[in-house]
Amino acid sequence: MSVRIAPSILSADFAYLGDAVARVERGGADLIHVDVMDGHFVPNLTIGPAVVKSLKRVARTPLDVHLMITDPDRYIEAFAAAGAAMISVHLEVLPHLHRTVHAIKALGVKAGVVLNPSTPVGALEEIATDVDFVLAMSVNPGFGGQSFIPRSPAKVAAIRALLDRCGNFAAPIEIDGGIDAHNAARVVAAGARILVAGNAIFGAADPEVATRELKAIAGLALTGPSPR
Ligand code: DX5
Ligand code: ZN
Repeated sequence: MSVRIAPSILSADFAYLGDAVARVERGGADLIHVDVMDGHFVPNLTIGPAVVKSLKRVARTPLDVHLMITDPDRYIEAFAAAGAAMISVHLEVLPHLHRTVHAIKALGVKAGVVLNPSTPVGALEEIATDVDFVLAMSVNPGFGGQSFIPRSPAKVAAIRALLDRCGNFAAPIEIDGGIDAHNAARVVAAGARILVAGNAIFGAADPEVATRELKAIAGLALTGPSPR
Protein backbone atom coordinates (compact mmCIF):
# COMPACT_ATOMS: atom_id res chain seq x y z
CA MET A 1 0.00 0.00 0.00
CA SER A 2 1.53 3.34 -1.05
CA VAL A 3 1.12 6.58 0.88
CA ARG A 4 -1.38 9.09 -0.47
CA ILE A 5 -1.31 12.83 0.20
CA ALA A 6 -4.63 14.60 0.73
CA PRO A 7 -4.24 18.38 0.90
CA SER A 8 -7.00 19.98 2.98
CA ILE A 9 -8.50 22.96 1.19
CA LEU A 10 -9.65 24.33 4.55
CA SER A 11 -6.35 26.21 4.65
CA ALA A 12 -6.60 27.45 1.06
CA ASP A 13 -7.93 30.84 -0.06
CA PHE A 14 -11.64 30.15 -0.61
CA ALA A 15 -11.75 32.83 -3.32
CA TYR A 16 -9.40 30.67 -5.44
CA LEU A 17 -10.28 27.08 -4.67
CA GLY A 18 -9.93 25.89 -8.25
CA ASP A 19 -6.44 27.32 -8.39
CA ALA A 20 -5.57 25.69 -5.04
CA VAL A 21 -6.68 22.30 -6.31
CA ALA A 22 -4.71 22.67 -9.55
CA ARG A 23 -1.54 23.62 -7.68
CA VAL A 24 -1.55 20.65 -5.31
CA GLU A 25 -2.48 18.30 -8.13
CA ARG A 26 0.61 19.50 -10.02
CA GLY A 27 2.57 18.65 -6.87
CA GLY A 28 1.27 15.08 -6.89
CA ALA A 29 -1.75 15.25 -4.56
CA ASP A 30 -3.63 11.96 -4.60
CA LEU A 31 -6.89 13.20 -3.07
CA ILE A 32 -8.48 16.53 -2.16
CA HIS A 33 -9.60 16.60 1.47
CA VAL A 34 -12.77 18.63 2.05
CA ASP A 35 -13.67 19.59 5.63
CA VAL A 36 -17.38 20.00 6.26
CA MET A 37 -18.25 21.67 9.60
CA ASP A 38 -21.67 22.57 10.95
CA GLY A 39 -21.06 24.84 13.94
CA HIS A 40 -22.55 22.16 16.24
CA PHE A 41 -20.25 19.14 16.31
CA VAL A 42 -17.37 21.56 15.95
CA PRO A 43 -17.41 25.31 16.54
CA ASN A 44 -16.53 26.27 12.99
CA LEU A 45 -18.72 26.53 9.88
CA THR A 46 -17.34 25.71 6.45
CA ILE A 47 -18.81 24.36 3.26
CA GLY A 48 -21.65 22.24 1.90
CA PRO A 49 -22.53 20.10 -1.12
CA ALA A 50 -22.68 23.05 -3.54
CA VAL A 51 -18.98 23.73 -3.09
CA VAL A 52 -18.17 20.02 -3.40
CA LYS A 53 -20.08 19.99 -6.70
CA SER A 54 -18.02 22.90 -8.00
CA LEU A 55 -14.77 21.29 -6.84
CA LYS A 56 -15.77 18.10 -8.63
CA ARG A 57 -15.89 20.01 -11.92
CA VAL A 58 -12.27 21.09 -11.62
CA ALA A 59 -10.55 18.34 -9.59
CA ARG A 60 -8.81 15.50 -11.39
CA THR A 61 -8.22 13.64 -8.13
CA PRO A 62 -10.96 12.07 -5.96
CA LEU A 63 -12.71 14.20 -3.33
CA ASP A 64 -12.32 12.97 0.25
CA VAL A 65 -15.17 14.52 2.25
CA HIS A 66 -14.74 14.65 6.04
CA LEU A 67 -18.08 15.33 7.74
CA MET A 68 -17.69 17.06 11.09
CA ILE A 69 -21.42 17.44 11.58
CA THR A 70 -23.88 16.14 14.16
CA ASP A 71 -26.34 14.61 11.68
CA PRO A 72 -24.38 13.15 8.76
CA ASP A 73 -27.23 10.79 7.77
CA ARG A 74 -29.20 13.78 6.48
CA TYR A 75 -26.49 14.87 4.07
CA ILE A 76 -24.73 11.74 2.82
CA GLU A 77 -26.81 11.50 -0.34
CA ALA A 78 -26.23 15.15 -1.18
CA PHE A 79 -22.46 14.84 -0.81
CA ALA A 80 -22.42 11.64 -2.87
CA ALA A 81 -24.46 13.31 -5.61
CA ALA A 82 -22.10 16.30 -5.48
CA GLY A 83 -19.20 14.00 -6.37
CA ALA A 84 -17.57 12.76 -3.16
CA ALA A 85 -15.48 9.62 -3.76
CA MET A 86 -14.90 9.07 -0.03
CA ILE A 87 -17.07 10.16 2.90
CA SER A 88 -15.99 9.86 6.51
CA VAL A 89 -18.28 10.22 9.52
CA HIS A 90 -17.43 10.65 13.20
CA LEU A 91 -18.02 7.66 15.40
CA GLU A 92 -18.87 10.03 18.28
CA VAL A 93 -22.14 11.26 16.73
CA LEU A 94 -23.60 8.02 15.38
CA PRO A 95 -25.60 5.55 17.49
CA HIS A 96 -26.37 3.61 14.27
CA LEU A 97 -22.93 3.71 12.72
CA HIS A 98 -23.33 0.34 10.97
CA ARG A 99 -26.36 1.64 9.10
CA THR A 100 -24.59 4.86 8.15
CA VAL A 101 -21.46 3.10 6.87
CA HIS A 102 -23.55 0.80 4.68
CA ALA A 103 -25.68 3.72 3.45
CA ILE A 104 -22.48 5.42 2.24
CA LYS A 105 -21.28 2.25 0.51
CA ALA A 106 -24.67 1.74 -1.14
CA LEU A 107 -24.17 5.10 -2.86
CA GLY A 108 -20.95 3.79 -4.43
CA VAL A 109 -18.77 5.90 -2.12
CA LYS A 110 -15.90 4.68 0.09
CA ALA A 111 -16.97 4.81 3.73
CA GLY A 112 -14.67 5.94 6.51
CA VAL A 113 -15.09 6.19 10.25
CA VAL A 114 -13.33 9.00 12.15
CA LEU A 115 -12.05 8.89 15.72
CA ASN A 116 -11.43 12.02 17.76
CA PRO A 117 -8.20 12.05 19.79
CA SER A 118 -10.02 11.05 23.01
CA THR A 119 -12.12 8.28 21.42
CA PRO A 120 -10.78 4.84 22.34
CA VAL A 121 -9.61 2.59 19.51
CA GLY A 122 -11.75 -0.25 20.90
CA ALA A 123 -14.87 1.66 19.85
CA LEU A 124 -14.06 0.53 16.28
CA GLU A 125 -14.23 -3.17 17.14
CA GLU A 126 -17.74 -3.93 15.88
CA ILE A 127 -17.42 -1.87 12.69
CA ALA A 128 -13.85 -2.84 11.77
CA THR A 129 -14.80 -5.28 9.02
CA ASP A 130 -17.30 -2.89 7.42
CA VAL A 131 -15.16 0.21 6.89
CA ASP A 132 -13.26 1.11 3.72
CA PHE A 133 -10.88 3.31 5.73
CA VAL A 134 -10.38 4.75 9.21
CA LEU A 135 -9.51 8.39 9.87
CA ALA A 136 -7.56 9.10 13.04
CA MET A 137 -7.73 12.72 14.19
CA SER A 138 -4.35 13.97 15.39
CA VAL A 139 -5.88 17.28 16.58
CA ASN A 140 -9.31 18.06 17.97
CA PRO A 141 -11.40 18.78 14.88
CA GLY A 142 -12.63 22.24 14.01
CA PHE A 143 -9.71 24.28 12.76
CA GLY A 144 -6.65 24.08 10.57
CA GLY A 145 -3.20 24.96 11.79
CA GLN A 146 -3.34 23.24 15.21
CA SER A 147 -0.46 21.33 16.81
CA PHE A 148 -0.08 17.61 16.25
CA ILE A 149 -0.98 15.55 19.35
CA PRO A 150 2.15 13.48 20.14
CA ARG A 151 0.25 10.33 21.12
CA SER A 152 -1.24 10.03 17.62
CA PRO A 153 1.31 7.60 16.07
CA ALA A 154 0.66 5.12 18.90
CA LYS A 155 -3.04 5.40 18.21
CA VAL A 156 -2.52 4.78 14.48
CA ALA A 157 -0.53 1.64 15.32
CA ALA A 158 -3.30 0.43 17.62
CA ILE A 159 -5.94 1.01 14.92
CA ARG A 160 -3.80 -0.91 12.40
CA ALA A 161 -3.47 -3.79 14.85
CA LEU A 162 -7.23 -3.87 15.42
CA LEU A 163 -8.06 -3.79 11.69
CA ASP A 164 -5.52 -6.56 11.01
CA ARG A 165 -6.82 -8.69 13.87
CA CYS A 166 -10.32 -8.35 12.38
CA GLY A 167 -8.99 -9.32 8.92
CA ASN A 168 -9.53 -5.93 7.29
CA PHE A 169 -6.01 -5.64 5.86
CA ALA A 170 -7.18 -3.55 2.89
CA ALA A 171 -8.57 -0.59 4.82
CA PRO A 172 -6.00 2.22 4.99
CA ILE A 173 -5.61 4.54 7.95
CA GLU A 174 -5.84 8.24 7.21
CA ILE A 175 -4.43 10.78 9.65
CA ASP A 176 -5.60 14.37 9.92
CA GLY A 177 -4.35 17.32 11.93
CA GLY A 178 -0.99 19.03 12.28
CA ILE A 179 0.74 16.79 9.74
CA ASP A 180 3.94 18.29 8.34
CA ALA A 181 7.42 17.43 7.11
CA HIS A 182 8.59 16.80 10.70
CA ASN A 183 6.05 14.15 11.72
CA ALA A 184 5.10 12.60 8.35
CA ALA A 185 7.69 9.83 8.52
CA ARG A 186 6.63 8.91 12.07
CA VAL A 187 2.95 8.54 11.18
CA VAL A 188 3.77 6.49 8.09
CA ALA A 189 6.01 4.23 10.18
CA ALA A 190 3.07 3.78 12.58
CA GLY A 191 0.84 2.66 9.71
CA ALA A 192 -0.84 5.75 8.25
CA ARG A 193 -1.29 5.53 4.47
CA ILE A 194 -3.27 8.70 3.73
CA LEU A 195 -1.83 11.95 5.09
CA VAL A 196 -4.08 15.01 5.28
CA ALA A 197 -2.27 18.33 5.41
CA GLY A 198 -3.75 21.81 5.39
CA ASN A 199 -1.47 24.41 6.88
CA ALA A 200 1.73 22.57 5.93
CA ILE A 201 0.69 22.80 2.28
CA PHE A 202 -1.42 25.92 1.84
CA GLY A 203 0.50 27.88 4.48
CA ALA A 204 3.70 27.22 2.52
CA ALA A 205 5.08 29.70 0.01
CA ASP A 206 4.43 27.22 -2.80
CA PRO A 207 1.71 24.58 -2.20
CA GLU A 208 2.84 22.62 -5.25
CA VAL A 209 6.36 22.23 -3.88
CA ALA A 210 5.08 21.55 -0.34
CA THR A 211 2.87 18.73 -1.65
CA ARG A 212 5.75 17.21 -3.59
CA GLU A 213 8.06 17.39 -0.57
CA LEU A 214 5.55 15.85 1.83
CA LYS A 215 4.90 13.06 -0.64
CA ALA A 216 8.61 12.38 -1.00
CA ILE A 217 9.10 12.22 2.77
CA ALA A 218 6.13 9.91 3.18
CA GLY A 219 7.31 7.67 0.35
CA LEU A 220 10.80 7.42 1.81
CA ALA A 221 9.38 6.45 5.19
CA LEU A 222 7.76 3.45 3.51
CA THR A 223 10.91 2.22 1.84
CA GLY A 224 13.76 3.71 3.85
CA PRO A 225 15.11 2.88 7.30
CA SER A 226 12.77 3.35 10.26
CA PRO A 227 12.89 6.89 11.66
CA ARG A 228 12.39 5.58 15.20
C1 DX5 B 1 -9.44 19.81 11.27
C2 DX5 B 1 -9.65 19.30 9.88
C3 DX5 B 1 -8.40 19.10 9.14
C4 DX5 B 1 -7.59 20.35 8.92
C5 DX5 B 1 -6.16 19.95 8.89
O1 DX5 B 1 -10.64 19.82 11.95
O2 DX5 B 1 -10.34 18.06 9.90
O3 DX5 B 1 -8.60 18.42 7.92
O4 DX5 B 1 -7.92 21.03 7.75
O5 DX5 B 1 -5.40 21.09 8.83
P1 DX5 B 1 -3.90 21.13 9.38
O6 DX5 B 1 -3.11 20.20 8.53
O7 DX5 B 1 -3.55 22.57 9.22
O8 DX5 B 1 -3.95 20.67 10.82
ZN1 ZN C 1 -10.34 16.89 7.96
